[in-house]
Amino acid sequence: MTKGIILAGGKGTRLYPMTKVVSKQLLPLYDKPMIYYPISVLLLAGIKEILIISTPEDLDNYKKLLGSGEKIGVKFEYIIQEQPRGLADAFILGKDFIGDDNVCLILGDNIFYGSNLSEMLNKAVNNEGATIFACNVKKPQAFGVIEIDKDGKPVSIEEKPENPKSNLAIPGLYFFDNSVVEIAKNVKPSLRGEVEITSVIQDYLNNNKLKVVMMGRGIAWLDTGTPENMLKAAEFIEAVQSRQGYYISCIEEIAWRKKMINDEQLRRIGEELKMTEYGKYILSLLEEIK
Ligand code: DAU
Repeated sequence: MTKGIILAGGKGTRLYPMTKVVSKQLLPLYDKPMIYYPISVLLLAGIKEILIISTPEDLDNYKKLLGSGEKIGVKFEYIIQEQPRGLADAFILGKDFIGDDNVCLILGDNIFYGSNLSEMLNKAVNNEGATIFACNVKKPQAFGVIEIDKDGKPVSIEEKPENPKSNLAIPGLYFFDNSVVEIAKNVKPSLRGEVEITSVIQDYLNNNKLKVVMMGRGIAWLDTGTPENMLKAAEFIEAVQSRQGYYISCIEEIAWRKKMINDEQLRRIGEELKMTEYGKYILSLLEEIK
């Protein structure tokens, strides 16, 4: 089985004053809290046990928003990260939650959308070793960067390199087998004092256990790192939703389509929210011809 972890901590200083008293991943992206987007990715991957990690100040708000998860047929667990020690800390803090299972880590501020996303996720969930993704970007300096050879095999990996060896950024979505728990425990903090996810990935690369999957043009990976990028992401979501009539990352819809909840459970959620477009959308799903 594969479990999911969402990292929703950090100080969000690049978005001050917006994030001074509200956790970044609770901010709205158009019509829903940012964390709905990574939750939807985990649901699409068929993951039903999800650990949410956030700061001592913010964790209660995530609990208020998402509760036990029962309403959408999943199980949410919560754990505090006292300090933003780095992404690999997720596997140290999440050791007991992970147990003997595999794990998918997604960053709470990473948004993915595209036509073959589900298929891509379903393949990755069953891979051995580690599976990461690669996205072509204009400025790779801001990301973890992966270099691949002509057969698509990984050659090198670097965190925020000044002189990147490729334009392939690694988005914040990673699938690992259970050995990640042991690997993360032994990672030494980097110069910036963080236990880096790239160090964990390097270990898999050294052992020939790393698979890199290209996210091509069909998939949008959206950034929410600056106010401008947040606005652009929100505009993208609005444009798709109002044009197509399909919602992006409506977690209740995904749970229903994946038969994690039945019509009655979906109706109840829709009724509670029926004063909003979001609630009306949920109710409209029940009118669909099956
Ligand atoms: O977005 C993809 C990139 O995410 C990857 O390409 C990089 O390899 C990876 O290191 C990471 O880079 P960032 O500079 O974007 O990471 P940042 O420190 O901003 O953290 C990402 C999210 O995780 C952010 O929403 C806050 C949260 N976080 C971060 C740290 C370091 C935590 O919850 N706890 C932490 O300890």
